[in-house]
Amino acid sequence: MKRLQQVVCFTILSLVPAIALSAGNAAEGKKKSAVCHACHGANGVSIQPIYPNLGGQHQNYLSKSLYDFRDGTRSNAVMSGFAANLSDADIEDISAWYASQDGLTEIKDK
Ligand code: HEC
Repeated sequence: MKRLQQVVCFTILSLVPAIALSAGNAAEGKKKSAVCHACHGANGVSIQPIYPNLGGQHQNYLSKSLYDFRDGTRSNAVMSGFAANLSDADIEDISAWYASQDGLTEIKDK
């Protein structure tokens, strides 16, 4: 029984950092996304229709897009360059920041 408790406890503890890591840090992401604002807007609502809105998008959609741009799975002349400079932590933090925004509801409310 004690062995089972140890295994359960170890399993739970080993999952905690993974969950914390994948969640990203939105406050850090806000700072790190300054360079992205030129096209995607400070509130995730882009300045022109050719740039996708990122605000309120699912976090895992955003992070997958950025990993894909970075490793070449998804290719775009502009975004591949920006994603190339991002670490895994940058991607998770920035994705958390944009996912935490209201997105297009901000336009509707105005
Ligand atoms: C010079 C303009 C520009 C800047 C700056 C820029 N992007 Fe983009 N971004 C684009 C364009 C254009 C696309 C659409 C690419 C495509 O069609 O595949 C895009 C697409 C994306 C997507 C995919 C969205 C979707 O709906 O599929 C994400 C995520 C993204 N950008 C994140 C970022 C992040 C994070 C930064 C800052 C590190 C950034 N972008 C900086 C122009 C820009």
